[in-house]
Amino acid sequence: MSTIDAVLKSVGEKNDINIDKVTVVGAGEVGMATAMSILCQGIASEVALVDMVEDRLMGQLKDIQQGIMFLNAKVSASADYAVTAGSKVCVITAGVRQKDKETRLELVQRNTDVLKVIVPNIVKYCPDCVIIIITNPCDILAWVTWKLSGFPAGRIIGSGTTLDSARFRFLISEKLGVNPGSVHANIIAEHGESCVPLWSTINVGGARLRDRNPKIATENDPENWLDLFQNVIKSGYTVRTLKGFTNWAIGLSVAGLVKSVLKNDNKVYPVSTLAKGMCGIDQEVFLSLPCCLGRNGVTQVIEVKLADEERRLLKTSADKLKEVIDGVSL
Ligand code: LAC
Repeated sequence: MSTIDAVLKSVGEKNDINIDKVTVVGAGEVGMATAMSILCQGIASEVALVDMVEDRLMGQLKDIQQGIMFLNAKVSASADYAVTAGSKVCVITAGVRQKDKETRLELVQRNTDVLKVIVPNIVKYCPDCVIIIITNPCDILAWVTWKLSGFPAGRIIGSGTTLDSARFRFLISEKLGVNPGSVHANIIAEHGESCVPLWSTINVGGARLRDRNPKIATENDPENWLDLFQNVIKSGYTVRTLKGFTNWAIGLSVAGLVKSVLKNDNKVYPVSTLAKGMCGIDQEVFLSLPCCLGRNGVTQVIEVKLADEERRLLKTSADKLKEVIDGVSL
């Protein structure tokens, strides 16, 4: 009798299927920060990693496995998408970076071509999953993923302005000295230059800041709140200048989205969703609006009452995204 059979007396069949499995495609800085945020918070019982660069992938796998006794989870990795089978959520972080002199549209097309390989494989092995796309420009690529997957739109989520809103809440919380989780402040629209901060709705404990400072974030604001928003816009750039890339804040943000999908908890996040018919948008674009997340992805979009200027900026952002989408070849 083998040692194993002598020590482990079988009394029932093992079940190797983890019902809360998550896949992360792309084992670079953002992919690994996302995977580690999920693992360290015990959000999933299995994380599968996929990457084309096999040496780096195996290095990441072995490094985590050597510390796996401190995590209550399983980690697997392969260049073969079979490893993703049965995942409830697939997070896409893979993509190419902008080259010198490359236009935004050229980058969109190169990353669309990357998605043409990734998305059909996810659909094949995880036909019921929710896909979260982080790769930039994530609003355009969320639309591309929706088209390539054939999934209902709610099952495609762009990480969108979840991160911008987290940066916004952090800076407001520092200014006010309250916990960022208690600051209700959203940035909507494009994850990028045309994002729109919703000054009219910011509140802390139900107290609306604009009621106390009607000039908030205007040119004549005695407290200069616009500076704070400029810092949000510069946040990613500042981090990239200092360390070369951003990864922790985006990883933590997306782990929150994954948790809400797996736990079916209907929390509200500003994420990129099919916005046609919402908040006065008539184009077929993905952009961020506050959404309820659950097992089927985005199940409800919150119809926020926007100030006129916010509505105008949202429309400008939608127009800009539509123009880029019109140049994409699928
Ligand atoms: C950023 C990247 C994730 O804003 O888009 O840091």
